[in-house]
Amino acid sequence: MDTSRTVLITGASGGIGYELTKLFARDHHNLVLVARSTERLAHAASELQPHGIAVRTLAIDLAQPLAPKFLFDQLQGTTIDILINNAGFGTFGEFAQMSEEQILGQINLNITALTQLTRLFLPPMIARRSGRIMNVASTAGFQPGPLMAVYYATKAYVISFSEAIANELRHSGVTVTCFCPGATHTGFAKRAGNDKSRLFQQLGAMNADKVALDGYRALMEARTLAISGAQNWLVAQSTRFAPRKVVTAISRWVAEKVDS
Ligand SMILES: NC(=O)c1ccc[n+]([C@@H]2O[C@H](COP(=O)([O-])OP(=O)(O)OC[C@H]3O[C@@H](n4cnc5c(N)ncnc54)[C@H](OP(=O)(O)O)[C@@H]3O)[C@@H](O)[C@H]2O)c1
Repeated sequence: MDTSRTVLITGASGGIGYELTKLFARDHHNLVLVARSTERLAHAASELQPHGIAVRTLAIDLAQPLAPKFLFDQLQGTTIDILINNAGFGTFGEFAQMSEEQILGQINLNITALTQLTRLFLPPMIARRSGRIMNVASTAGFQPGPLMAVYYATKAYVISFSEAIANELRHSGVTVTCFCPGATHTGFAKRAGNDKSRLFQQLGAMNADKVALDGYRALMEARTLAISGAQNWLVAQSTRFAPRKVVTAISRWVAEKVDS
């Protein structure tokens, strides 16, 4: 078994990212874990210890403008074979009421950091003619999202960007996978403020370990676009045929809060 590969995972201290670290550790990949909280990173690293792999943690707020380059510089001398751009967050509420901090925070993390990290870690992969990148988008990226307009739009960017560069890189030896989970039980909904939405209360969310396994397989199979869960796949397909206004209205209904 190849024990020398190193995987960089952003948002590795909780949720889907943390479940992914366990899968990579199980298959003897070394790991670089990135998130903001030093304590949660340390806890994640200690849980991975029994696998006997090398685990490095870097507490960095990737929504800060200089953070992606800082992270890249910290890893000079380390070959990153697999990059997982997983860190991301959403904020529930009407756009007109949303603070600049919430809006730009989502764009900075979900779009800018993901794009910068891809741009920074890609050239060495191309030079080696080997590497894998997985960008975690969302089924939110397949339609407009009233009440989470910015979040849905950032994920539409991730899908479009990832599919485009996957095509550009098709003969390079580097693969790009865009992974789209649907609603998943993690810390995401609480941070977003949409844990009381119809989506999370009534329509059902998947468990993070199952979602991570779908993502892991998609990455290893070098699939360009993968949607986690059959129901999520069906919903994503249906948005292609229904009128846009209908799709947007349904999207709002799903996002609305219900009495739990
Ligand atoms: N859960 C869902 O329903 C769902 C559905 C579709 C797609 N997704 C996508 O899946 C990805 C993972 O989400 P999740 O559900 O696992 O969320 P989560 O449970 O909230 O975990 C997010 C991870 O990202 C880290 N993080 C957050 N902000 C960061 C920042 N500014 N800089 C660096 N790290 C940061 C968090 O650690 P710290 O807080 O310590 O920084 C944590 O490790 C996201 O891209 C999300 O958009 C989630």
